[in-house]
Amino acid sequence: MIEGRDIVSAGPRLRYGLVGGGPGSFIAGVHRAGIDLTRAADITAGCFSRDREKSLAAGSAAGVSEDRIYGSYGEMAEAESARPDGIDFVVVTTPNGTHYEICRAFLDRGINVSCDKPLSLTTDEALDLVRRVRGKDLSFMVTYVYTGYPLVRHARELIRNGGIGDVRVVMAEYAQDWLADRLEDTKTVWRTDPEQAGVSCCVGDIGTHIENMVHFVTGLEIDRISAVLSTFVPGRELDDNALVTVKYRGGAVGHYWPSQVAAGRENGLSFRVYGTEGSIEWHQENPNEMRFARKGHPSVTLTRGGYDLGPSAARWTRMPSGHPEGLFAAWANLYEAYCSTIKNKRQGKAQDEFEIFPTAFDGARGVKFVHDCVASSRADSAWVDGAPPVL
Ligand SMILES: NC(=O)c1ccc[n+]([C@@H]2O[C@H](COP(=O)([O-])OP(=O)(O)OC[C@H]3O[C@@H](n4cnc5c(N)ncnc54)[C@H](O)[C@@H]3O)[C@@H](O)[C@H]2O)c1
Repeated sequence: MIEGRDIVSAGPRLRYGLVGGGPGSFIAGVHRAGIDLTRAADITAGCFSRDREKSLAAGSAAGVSEDRIYGSYGEMAEAESARPDGIDFVVVTTPNGTHYEICRAFLDRGINVSCDKPLSLTTDEALDLVRRVRGKDLSFMVTYVYTGYPLVRHARELIRNGGIGDVRVVMAEYAQDWLADRLEDTKTVWRTDPEQAGVSCCVGDIGTHIENMVHFVTGLEIDRISAVLSTFVPGRELDDNALVTVKYRGGAVGHYWPSQVAAGRENGLSFRVYGTEGSIEWHQENPNEMRFARKGHPSVTLTRGGYDLGPSAARWTRMPSGHPEGLFAAWANLYEAYCSTIKNKRQGKAQDEFEIFPTAFDGARGVKFVHDCVASSRADSAWVDGAPPVL
């Protein structure tokens, strides 16, 4: 059994700024809630909207002092980098098409960045960010949040330790139905607009979560991809469903199904991984349980905080078993690892082996995956190169 514990970052609190999070926005508030759980950092600045008035309204509501609420991210990067008490990191929560320029503005002024996925519109942009991060030795997180769940961490440890043998087959899906009808007629949906979302809606928005999750858990690298991207809702420019078959280096194969038109499904991210000696299965909508089976033995349900879990699950468990933990805790786990990294670097301390989070290169891997799927689909699902990008 794992004891639940209060996971709080050691050392003085960091200062962070937010870009995005204007009135009515979605994910910025979730980032903030996750950071608040860690008690590792306080919001001290922000450019919450392109509209100065809206930025002021959202910033004041968040308790940010007026002189640190900005009308543009460029102004914010410049002013914050010039202050002795400037922000330690920025959190970028704007639509996809803006990520590259915003991240670049902060990196170039020596400010650490946490950016939401997909990292950028093109692989070249993503790789450019990776180079800038490495050139300045900054910390950059891409918030593939589902990797923050304790049982996902356990799945990774189990596979690395040979718990299911050599991986042969991966079946993973992310099924939602919020785009099953033509929502665009009644509200602004930037995710289906190529200018703001990029070359793909469904693969970019949720297919990237599958790609990242499978890589995180199994360590497998994709070699070849064949994809069918569909647009089921008439009048929509980008895909709302995809079927992707992958061949990994080393011979394993996988199948990914991201869908935003899966009627009756809410947020069904799940994976099944089959190895030579056993298998695991996990569903995001029920994140406190994971099925584990060894060949020739009955399958068991592992529970978060319960028996037979390793140190990587223990490291990220806040509540004792039987007390459900959820998505906010997963966000907090990513931010705890990220903030510790920033603090450790400053103090010249080594990172502990569990303090991991998705990096800028993971973001670049995701952007290339999107483009590979689109290229294959446009070529009548031909097999295309799906290898990770080369720096
Ligand atoms: N990791 C996850 O699980 C997850 C979940 C949801 C969204 N996302 C990602 O987060 C990003 C935002 O998604 P969302 O659903 O919150 O979008 P949203 O439309 O709800 O919010 C975007 C906000 O950004 C603001 N904004 C736009 N351009 C700006 C600029 N130049 N400067 C300042 N503010 C600006 C808008 O005013 C708005 O407040 C997307 O990249 C999306 O893919 C990730």
